[in-house]
Amino acid sequence: MADQLRFDGRVAIVTGAGAGLGREYAMLLASRGAKVVVNDLGGTHSGEGASTRAADVVVNEIKANGGEAVADYNSVVDGDKVVDTAIKAYGRVDIIINNAGILRDRSIAKISEQDWNLVHDVHLKGSFKVTQAAWPYMKKQNYGRIIMTSSNSGMYGNFGQANYSAAKMGLVGLANTVAIEGAKNNIHCNVILPTAASRMTEGILPDMLFNELKPKLIAPVVVYMCHESCDENGTYIESAAGWATKVHSVRGKGTVLRTSIEQDSISLEAVQKAWGKVTDMSEAKHLNAIGEASGYLLEVLEKLKEGGLSDFEDVFKFGSK
Ligand code: NAI
Repeated sequence: MADQLRFDGRVAIVTGAGAGLGREYAMLLASRGAKVVVNDLGGTHSGEGASTRAADVVVNEIKANGGEAVADYNSVVDGDKVVDTAIKAYGRVDIIINNAGILRDRSIAKISEQDWNLVHDVHLKGSFKVTQAAWPYMKKQNYGRIIMTSSNSGMYGNFGQANYSAAKMGLVGLANTVAIEGAKNNIHCNVILPTAASRMTEGILPDMLFNELKPKLIAPVVVYMCHESCDENGTYIESAAGWATKVHSVRGKGTVLRTSIEQDSISLEAVQKAWGKVTDMSEAKHLNAIGEASGYLLEVLEKLKEGGLSDFEDVFKFGSK
């Protein structure tokens, strides 16, 4: 017990906690002492209807196990109401796991505006609204742990999921900036890319895989990122089947497409000739901040100004127009 990671005194909001992954996050947090707001609208997997049952069942289960929890039936789109539930019941909010989700799978040609909007509302806008409503409380207490739920469907694309993929990558962008803005107040924001057996993936994943993808195998990874001892901020973690890894973007070395600072245009043919170098990832590196990207650009410009292009001698081969 002494070595256990505990959440005593912490208040957690888990959205979409009436089923699947969210349920496991809520159960684990409560079992370690957190007071949990079990948010769930209780609709279908495509976002129709509503029911109080989904959240109630999980709250009852937590209470039966000796934990503390309260149900919240609002849509995440009404993030202020979700956060209000936490404040009214427990007076604070320390942890948000933005997890609620729906699917409206259609190929790009067939996505209706409604399918697009609803998927974006629940995933992207919902995560924004809940996070923004909790922000003043987290800032004041100088503490917060926030999780955004992305997906490999966003990271790599997946046939029939353009609306979902776009919303899920939107969450990566949201997390990147929330992590930066929260850092000085000890508010961390990280991203989970899960693959789990749930009603969302039933019938999509092959049976053998489905059986191995228990949501409870991901919950400890996500809940660890919500602990005060976890320093991680702005990180994307992929996890499934009792496996987890960090994922990040990389940028190639690139190449300069003009020969001097005076040259103010680049021909299409120069781009065509240089394309192999533009897309070469053999020396790819991860950049930690936007400043590193602009810093590199300034270096390139400096070298062009000096005319000392030894690192970029390829520009001379491609010529200008
Ligand atoms: P699930 O369908 O079992 O659970 C989602 C829950 O969110 C449901 O209980 C649903 O009622 C609730 N919900 C839906 N709209 C809501 C709203 N507007 N407000 C409040 N609650 C709402 O799905 P699962 O698999 O547990 O997914 C959880 C999250 O993980 C989702 O964001 C999903 O996109 C993401 N994800 C899941 C993957 C998987 O393999 N299961 C893969 C990648 C991402």
